[in-house]
Amino acid sequence: VASLNGRGARPLAVEIPGDKSLSHRALILAALATGTSQIRGLLDSADVRATAECLRRLGVSVPPISPEMSVTADGVGGFRDAKMDLDCANSGTSARLLSGIVAGAGISARFVGDASLSKRPMRRVADPLRQMGADIRFEGAEGLLPMCISAGKLGPIEWTSPTASAQVKSALLLAGVTARVAIVVREPSRSRDHTERMLAALGAPINVSGAVVRLAADCPPLEQFAFDVPGDPSSAAFFAAWALLSGAPLRTGIVSVNPTRIGFFRVLQRAGAEVSVEPEGFHLGEPIGRIAVRGRLGQAFTLGEAEVPTLIDELPLLACLAVRTPGETRVTGAAELRAKESDRIATVVNNLRGIGAQADELPDGFVVHGTTAPLRGSVTTHGDHRIAMAFGVLGAEPGNQIAVDDPACVDVSFPRFWLELERLRAA
Ligand code: S3P
Repeated sequence: VASLNGRGARPLAVEIPGDKSLSHRALILAALATGTSQIRGLLDSADVRATAECLRRLGVSVPPISPEMSVTADGVGGFRDAKMDLDCANSGTSARLLSGIVAGAGISARFVGDASLSKRPMRRVADPLRQMGADIRFEGAEGLLPMCISAGKLGPIEWTSPTASAQVKSALLLAGVTARVAIVVREPSRSRDHTERMLAALGAPINVSGAVVRLAADCPPLEQFAFDVPGDPSSAAFFAAWALLSGAPLRTGIVSVNPTRIGFFRVLQRAGAEVSVEPEGFHLGEPIGRIAVRGRLGQAFTLGEAEVPTLIDELPLLACLAVRTPGETRVTGAAELRAKESDRIATVVNNLRGIGAQADELPDGFVVHGTTAPLRGSVTTHGDHRIAMAFGVLGAEPGNQIAVDDPACVDVSFPRFWLELERLRAA
């Protein structure tokens, strides 16, 4: 990894808000633990607020999100049937992880979500949970919210997941922890591994070998913990992209530098940028550190299935960066993008064309052609936060005029995004 020391301008320091995946998990694990857990730096965004509210409806007393908060809980025994719907809003992580807990704890709940989440596939968690013995009913179309889980008793499972999905893997692990049964999950390639790292750090009998995770039966009760949520590398990615487009070097505050999360930065390096990852230890098993970026993207890149899980949420942004990278960038093996907050293959390609760039849709990815022409037009986000932010960064480039239809949708993961982008632009 190239060193940035002593080369040119001092990098701009940017603090990155708490990691979304880790924030969901910190709240969920604090709710499953016995005692008072201390959480610092929890992301206060719409998705995490959805998880907090669902946990309240399951009987856990979760205070309002604040920079330093504590959650006092009674372990699995503190969970109750949800009398009110669990409204997961836009958040797939809330719906899928909590479905594992509700099924595992042997309680009942009805899961609902917004229009986008109500189109996203839930059978990927319902199928294995049903195989474990869960009673799950979809009220409308099979596999789509609203989804009702009724009290029942689960047995162990060995599950081979057709997709690399941390949400599926986590749902099953959490079902295993709450029902105290053994779980084996095999994935085609390893998805983000926060749940297994945190559970192992809390003493759960977890074993990881390649893309196979095993939880032994009779997981002991989880005890209270303290956790500082590191910044979100997926949020940092937008500013790294801005650093490359603007030529102004940047260094982040503490973020997760988990290898299953930072594929985006490896691709930047491959495409010619200078990137350095500076490790600073671990929090509850999660590797943390700072990331510094400078330079330009000099050559188009290709990426395929093996790498996709490590940068799945950054693909819209990589597509926007590819517009300013000489040559033809090709992404394949990313059909999962169609099951995100929007169909991110169609959304990215249509919006790139709409602002005057050349892009082609593939069944499992896209091709983007680099150009230096000014980009003008309007972007339809379909309420998808990552589409808004990816095109927002491109729109900040001098000479471009890009209108984003729903800028407020960034609230899902990064409420202060536009203010921070403006601050960087003015720096
Ligand atoms: C997440 C897992 C990923 C990711 C999402 C957050 C998580 O989804 O896209 O933003 O916190 O587990 P999948 O597990 O569906 O790939």
